[in-house]
Amino acid sequence: MERPRWAPDGLDLDRPSVARVYDYYLGGSHNFAVDREFAEQVIGQMPNVPELTRQNRGFLRRAVRDLARAGVEQFVDLGSGIPTVGNVHDVAQEINPAARVAYVDWDPVAVAHGQAILEDNPRTAVIGADLRDPAAVFAQPAVSALIDPAKPTAVLLIAVLHFVPDEEKPADLVAAIAGLLAPGSYIAISHASPEKEESVLDRAATLYRQTASPVTTRSPAEIAALFGDLEMLDPGVVRTPLWRPDFPDELGPEAAAYPGCAGVARVG
Ligand SMILES: C[S@@+](CC[C@H](N)C(=O)[O-])C[C@H]1O[C@@H](n2cnc3c(N)ncnc32)[C@H](O)[C@@H]1O
Repeated sequence: MERPRWAPDGLDLDRPSVARVYDYYLGGSHNFAVDREFAEQVIGQMPNVPELTRQNRGFLRRAVRDLARAGVEQFVDLGSGIPTVGNVHDVAQEINPAARVAYVDWDPVAVAHGQAILEDNPRTAVIGADLRDPAAVFAQPAVSALIDPAKPTAVLLIAVLHFVPDEEKPADLVAAIAGLLAPGSYIAISHASPEKEESVLDRAATLYRQTASPVTTRSPAEIAALFGDLEMLDPGVVRTPLWRPDFPDELGPEAAAYPGCAGVARVG
């Protein structure tokens, strides 16, 4: 198969990549036939997946907006995916042009594409790294050039911790991240969470075993436990569309049945 110009060398084109599948859900063009075929299988099980991914991006925007308005100037987006319009720097720099954003993903397409589109934005960096070693991520020169560990930082874990299985102790990972941050920092999480027993989400999660990133769904209580003893911001861990919605009066009953939860906590 022909490799497009934006695709780095050495890609595994035989297996779907969750970053490129997600790009397809969002209507992007940075995906391959193997990703599109996989995405269509998931959509066959869960026809509303594209709408769900847009709702998840809505949470990302609302959380970044509120944290930027609260004075946070530094953002680290772990498992950032392919940075399309409406991403963290768009939202944060509109509120505070001095805001700095480090995007981190281990998918080579996400990293290469992000570096290309952000090369003219000196207050952003896109780094290829495994978020499960946060000390190594923060020690990367491109990150430490932008992010001052002595100042409050918002760390975003948006639709990514469900790729960290229980054996890898995701709550310990969140605690390790919190331990790297100055007082007044924040951690935002959104996470797949079945809305009822026998959720179609569980069938879709089964399909993700074909990727390099199997999915572990968690209950709202399990997601709340990922924050450990950090201080939750209002309204706590809730179904993703219910986290500080822009137009609460317009939310339909489906908002409370969203198959994912989100929350933001303060560090120190
Ligand atoms: C479902 S996408 C979410 C993208 C973005 N956070 C959003 O919500 O729009 C999950 C992303 O996490 C990345 N990812 C998964 N496990 C990772 C790891 N261990 N280290 C770095 N990135 C990871 C994937 O490559 C993918 O881009």
